[in-house]
Amino acid sequence: MNSDPSSAKAWSGRFSEPVSDLVKRYTASVFFDNRMAMQDIRGSLAHARMLARQGIIAAMDLADIERGMAQIQGEIERGEFAWNLDDEDVHLNIEKRLTALVGDAGKRLHTGRSRNDQVATDIRLWLRDAIDQILALIGEFQRNLIDVAEQHAATPMPGFTHLQVAQPVTFGHHLMAYYEMTRRDAERFTDARRRVNRLPLGAAALAGTSFPIDRQFVAEALGFEAVCENSLDAVSDRDFAIEFCAASALLMTHLSRLSEELILWMSPRVGFIDLADRFCTGSSIMPQKKNPDVPELVRGKTGRVNGSLVALLTLMKGQPLAYNKDNQEDKEPLFDTADTVIDTLRIFADLVTGIQVKAEVMGSALNQGFATATDLADYLVKKGLPFRDAHEAVALAVRGAEARGCDLPALTLGELAEIMASVRGAAERLDGDVFQVLTVTGSLASRDHIGGTAPSQVRQAISRARKELKISA
Ligand code: ARG
Repeated sequence: MNSDPSSAKAWSGRFSEPVSDLVKRYTASVFFDNRMAMQDIRGSLAHARMLARQGIIAAMDLADIERGMAQIQGEIERGEFAWNLDDEDVHLNIEKRLTALVGDAGKRLHTGRSRNDQVATDIRLWLRDAIDQILALIGEFQRNLIDVAEQHAATPMPGFTHLQVAQPVTFGHHLMAYYEMTRRDAERFTDARRRVNRLPLGAAALAGTSFPIDRQFVAEALGFEAVCENSLDAVSDRDFAIEFCAASALLMTHLSRLSEELILWMSPRVGFIDLADRFCTGSSIMPQKKNPDVPELVRGKTGRVNGSLVALLTLMKGQPLAYNKDNQEDKEPLFDTADTVIDTLRIFADLVTGIQVKAEVMGSALNQGFATATDLADYLVKKGLPFRDAHEAVALAVRGAEARGCDLPALTLGELAEIMASVRGAAERLDGDVFQVLTVTGSLASRDHIGGTAPSQVRQAISRARKELKISA
């Protein structure tokens, strides 16, 4: 029996024997939830100010609490705070230190509050900051991406489907696809932030409190948009954290796809780009190697972010209302997700500026895959041939070119006509102007509508993006 009140756990009065060391370690969260220390202090100060304003604690108590918290904040910032496993979590560690510093006022702080609404408040404050940081970093990544896209608004490269050369696109157009993806990601984070930004405090353990609290005051003091309107829901649901992890998983999925492309493009077999040395590492055995480790790790780390999403969903699905200790398991996946996303975005914002484009290699790849075959078909259609017949005629042309070991523009008009002879109405629709559409430049320029790959359209997409990001060109 632990009878010395200064070393006893905050809740030990009801118990006849202490927990074993193993159980203590198993149930404690202090060594990971102390990341929320600053949020915990902010929340406690807002709560204490409300208590004093409502006459629930004395002005003197508030002054003591403020003084004690200022001291604790300094200790934590200087790395002097002694986090103690015996005090279980960040909340009890800080409260205990406060009481040691200021006495009874420290013991009054928890009036009308529970760790259940306290922890939910801390996580929301923490996550709100993380989201703001992520939104700023997405913007930085996008700004750099757009700059590279602009340099290559007219640089032709093969567009692929099934990883087979499909049609010419520009490298700038390809990069702008990732602008669109991350734009939606930013929207998702912004939207999730609205639901994060609600105050649970006041729900107390689960049912609310009998003290005459002012939740609106606390909400405003902490910058929350509104209060959580049901106390049971306020302390128990972590859907806002799950949403954040889902938005993170999608963002990482997008960055993982870009990573996969960078890796592929950098392979000497493809050779479209090179990455700056600072994002690559060598091999300890093969001196010639330059490996794209950073994008490979981004692709790999996407797995842990997806894993955290599933962990949180699984954590939630079996819990009856209201708070259960299961919820303590929300923090590590959440922190890990935010850390991974923040580091990945930081690295990627810089990485895109280090993409060296090998335009000649991209261009010559376009001359090997019959990339303008669709343009030839469209040409015949515009001259009146039904699309299915045009498709058939061009398929023959591709086979003919393949047999001759050349690309479509290298065939003469006579050869084209001869090859297409079996498709009724095809050969007589061919004219000298066909060679304009068979060139890569002609093909690109013809896709001249919103969303198309014509260089002029890519430039317009870039200026729309700059307007959205509020960058002056
Ligand atoms: N460390 C706990 C958590 O992260 C704080 C809330 C504990 N509440 C309780 N009634 N045991 O969820």
